[in-house]
Amino acid sequence: MTAWRIRLASPEITDADRAAVLRVLHTPVLSRGPEGTALEEEFSRRLAGLPAALVSNGTAGLYLALRALGIRGGDVITPSFGFIGTLHAIRLAGARPRFADISPETLCVTRETIEEAWTTSVRAILPVHVFGTPPPMDAIARLARERNVALIEDACEALGAVAQDRPAGTHGDAAVFAFYANKQLTTGEGGLVVARERSTIDRIASMRNQGRGEREFDFVGEGFNFRLTEMQAALGRSQLARLDRMLAKREAIAAGYARRLARIPGICALPSVREGDRRSWFVYPVFVEEPEWRDPVRKILAAAGIETAPYFPALHGFEGFREPALRGSGLAVTSAVAARSFALPFHTALTERDLDEVSGMLERGLAAAGASTCRLTLPTLVGSFA
Ligand SMILES: Cc1ncc(COP(=O)(O)O)c(C=O)c1O
Repeated sequence: MTAWRIRLASPEITDADRAAVLRVLHTPVLSRGPEGTALEEEFSRRLAGLPAALVSNGTAGLYLALRALGIRGGDVITPSFGFIGTLHAIRLAGARPRFADISPETLCVTRETIEEAWTTSVRAILPVHVFGTPPPMDAIARLARERNVALIEDACEALGAVAQDRPAGTHGDAAVFAFYANKQLTTGEGGLVVARERSTIDRIASMRNQGRGEREFDFVGEGFNFRLTEMQAALGRSQLARLDRMLAKREAIAAGYARRLARIPGICALPSVREGDRRSWFVYPVFVEEPEWRDPVRKILAAAGIETAPYFPALHGFEGFREPALRGSGLAVTSAVAARSFALPFHTALTERDLDEVSGMLERGLAAAGASTCRLTLPTLVGSFA
């Protein structure tokens, strides 16, 4: 394994975080206790007061949200530019993913691409806030209401984002967040579901806990063990107390990259978000002008000890998701973006020197590839290929 000098991701763990976890270990309650309850309340306060349930990870949360909203079959419209866990959750719930294309402005689905992918079997829309950028949730929520289908926001990458003046995750029937170690806030593994209706969260709270009912040792329905531990919840509370500071640091690092990238030929960053939206920086993706430049450039970075990742490959290229029947449209923007994108190191411990080094190696790699055009933008780059 390569020993990376500049890592792709790295959780920010402070002494206060460690102390919070240790405090739990001095008590007899390691699961289903006061830390979890308090963290649900604290998240709820940040998310427009919606009822909330902690779960063991984002995939489990998506699965439980689908089941709790009665999705057991039919089509669920979702992007192919996203993470595979979303598709596993849809399949596990008994439904079929149907891919809608993305906008080159947000890399997320739009009302129009969802309509293009529509079938008579659609039961739910599951947009993803890709890389922490919000989709046009107001227009998508209107469509879900008009067509009378469920709307579940995959906000796993978007804690702290704002979609049309409201917190990401508060537009749909339910929304899911995730807390793996590369996320804006981490509990090691972990997830959260919020829902419009208290009854949806009550069903999820029962299902995550073996289908438990109200009475003592009573089991009333479908169940699993998708609980979060008290140690994880304590870490989550300690992290949530400084989430805004961590988000601000991520935003400053993203701005540092953007300044440097603007001077490098052959590459571009994400476009700015529109007014009323706020991106919560999850990873830092870049897009090369020619797809064949990507791997040689990544190799040059790797040789210098700089870790990158091919976020995201198009999901409709993976085994098990290639059937043409899953494609709701041509997916031209998805394919054009996926072929050109990869993620740079991105976490709160990066220094200005790290950013200089990463962008210096990028410049060298792109020059070797023959890049010469400066000031690309993603919509113009993708527009010319899609
Ligand atoms: C868009 C998206 N959906 C779902 C998930 C699944 O979350 P988890 O890995 O916690 O199961 C992730 C996590 O990386 C994600 O990025």
